[in-house]
Amino acid sequence: MKNFSRNLTQESSISQNDFIWPVFIIDGKNQKQEIQKMPLVYRYSLDKLIPEIEHLVKLGLQAIVIFPQIENDKKDEIGTDALNPHNLVCNAVRKIKKYFPELGIICDVALDPFTSHGHDGVISDDKIDNDKTISILKKQAILQAKAGCDIVAPSDMMDGRVLAIREELEKNEFKDIMIMSYSVKYSSSFYGPFRDAIDSKKLIKPHHKKSYQMNPANSDVALHEVKMDISEGADMVIIKPGMPYLDIISKCKDRFRVPVFAYQVSGEYSMLMSAAKMNYLNLNDIVLESLISFKRAGADGFFSYFTPLILEKLQKK
Ligand code: PBG
Repeated sequence: MKNFSRNLTQESSISQNDFIWPVFIIDGKNQKQEIQKMPLVYRYSLDKLIPEIEHLVKLGLQAIVIFPQIENDKKDEIGTDALNPHNLVCNAVRKIKKYFPELGIICDVALDPFTSHGHDGVISDDKIDNDKTISILKKQAILQAKAGCDIVAPSDMMDGRVLAIREELEKNEFKDIMIMSYSVKYSSSFYGPFRDAIDSKKLIKPHHKKSYQMNPANSDVALHEVKMDISEGADMVIIKPGMPYLDIISKCKDRFRVPVFAYQVSGEYSMLMSAAKMNYLNLNDIVLESLISFKRAGADGFFSYFTPLILEKLQKK
């Protein structure tokens, strides 16, 4: 096939408009700490993060999602710091919004960065307490909205949290805040490096979240979760992880025709990055191929830790 006809007949493509950059933040000044299992991904203090964002906004970055690494002595059983209006996340949102009013800011709604056990919810009688957790999450979402975020993204996987957050947003007159629900979140071993990044891995006992994240062997339940979340008021949905779950992206898009986002998670990043470091595979090629597979499957965009790398590449093209 000649180049021109290959270009003309290409169905999917990647542009600057597809990227959501997940950023890790820490307290303090002048900090840029590389995450051990995610080469070239860093935890930034705000003063260091702002120039990075500035650079990427110039390259066309549309949105970021913020993940805090909270000091361990601020973590407790019920994730109290999640409801502190001056916690790391809220302070970051206020500041980033001031500098970049046009940039979309997404906040993760979940307790895992804040709990001493690293779980996304609170625990009663050795079990994640769904309803108690929701009563905290809806307050967390309001604080994030007050700080100025554009989208709240519940990643906790409690049942009924989208409706509770939607009602709470309405009650507080936040009519423009969107809900991007992590509707489909598998209990995946690909989250490992992320749990290191927010320093929750060693806290999590048992070492999995199987009681509230989904079984990788199932797909019907994914469709069910998306349906529920849309009926509860979600504006967009996330499928997570990305590459091992392309079939789920495709089914959800086909069935519901809502905005669908793929999350290329930390372990996918580490996997591609380490293969490239070993010179087994070419980094740019495999990253672009993995991202375009999300688009081909039906995703409208994706979360990727490769955002800085690929935005640079797109610019140079
Ligand atoms: C939890 C949360 C996780 C990720 C985003 N939000 C991990 C988990 O469920 O433990 C993972 C993201 C990644 O691996 O890149 N609220």
